Amino acid sequence: MSKFIVTGGAGFIGSHLVDFLLSQKHEVIAIDNLTTGNISNLKQASKYSTFRFLKSDLKAVDYGTLLEKGDTIMHLAATVGVKKVCEETLETFDNNFQGTQILLDAAVKKDCQFLFTSTSEVYGDKKEAMKETDYSQMYVTHGGRCAYTLSKFCGEFLCLAYHEKYNLKVVITRLFNTIGARQRPEYGMVVPKFVESTILKNPITVFDDGKQTRSFCDVSDTVSALSALIQADHTNGEIFNIGNSEPVEILELAEYILSINQSDTAIEFQPLPDGRDQNKDIKDRCPSLDKIFDYINWKPKYHWTEAVKRTNDYYLSVLSPNNSDSIN
Ligand SMILES: NC(=O)c1ccc[n+]([C@@H]2O[C@H](COP(=O)([O-])OP(=O)(O)OC[C@H]3O[C@@H](n4cnc5c(N)ncnc54)[C@H](O)[C@@H]3O)[C@@H](O)[C@H]2O)c1
Repeated sequence: MSKFIVTGGAGFIGSHLVDFLLSQKHEVIAIDNLTTGNISNLKQASKYSTFRFLKSDLKAVDYGTLLEKGDTIMHLAATVGVKKVCEETLETFDNNFQGTQILLDAAVKKDCQFLFTSTSEVYGDKKEAMKETDYSQMYVTHGGRCAYTLSKFCGEFLCLAYHEKYNLKVVITRLFNTIGARQRPEYGMVVPKFVESTILKNPITVFDDGKQTRSFCDVSDTVSALSALIQADHTNGEIFNIGNSEPVEILELAEYILSINQSDTAIEFQPLPDGRDQNKDIKDRCPSLDKIFDYINWKPKYHWTEAVKRTNDYYLSVLSPNNSDSIN
């Protein structure tokens, strides 16, 4: 049994990672300040005697006491979501960058292993599948979503620099769109937003012409990859894409969600909102999974249609009038 610290552990992916690690018989401490996370995501985890939740900003934790030599830090806490990031640019950069540096310092002091969750956004706009060795193409503009992308890119740099200088074991992961239960629609995540609109019979808003593509990975696949990458020896100091390699047009996604719900809810087309248009919304985003397959033999188990269906079923259950749980 190893000890894992999961920052952002009450969030969407973090809480699934906590559940997964507990099911693998590890000891887990989740740290979360509950800005976008929710304590109800840890309902299952709280049944384990090997689990502890620390409600705190990660920048305020006393790591000298919390960490022991050889622990593993899974760093998922971040300000996320296009809408929130565009409204809180400086806070986003500060939270994501400073938070990562504080944790890296703590990891060095206690000789911990460190996994960082970065984002596919660091690649910028590319039509073909993105490879870890690709050059990045980013737009730096006034305000807006580049605060998130840059904070993650700088976080990657910090991880590699700490790895070089202190011989710290680090693994950097670039997550592509991940979907599943517990993801919240209000910060601009596309699948929960479309599902919520369909279930509540509100029109689905598709930006631009809907021809932009994304890829969707089931959260259970994502967390199995995170866990396997940090526990493998030969992944040290490396960067890995995690996602699903099949691109899906946003309009196709909307139509699929309508079809599985047998809904005739309208699709409304709208121009990209300010924060996205000015900051060059990325048109296509799809990972190459060659590297992660070569290193740990991982590929997602769920096709995107199954992942969307699983997410849809979750929202159907929580939004049903008979359910006392809420998605908030
Ligand atoms: N969901 C995706 O598709 C996706 C894609 C790319 C990258 N990522 C990355 O994966 C990670 C998890 O994302 P998510 O979708 O689960 O988002 P989330 O908002 O559900 O999780 C982030 C969690 O971090 C917590 N948090 C934020 N700042 C904190 C701080 N200073 N101290 C303590 N807790 C703090 C939030 O309360 C939240 O619970 C993030 O780092 C995100 O950038 C996610």
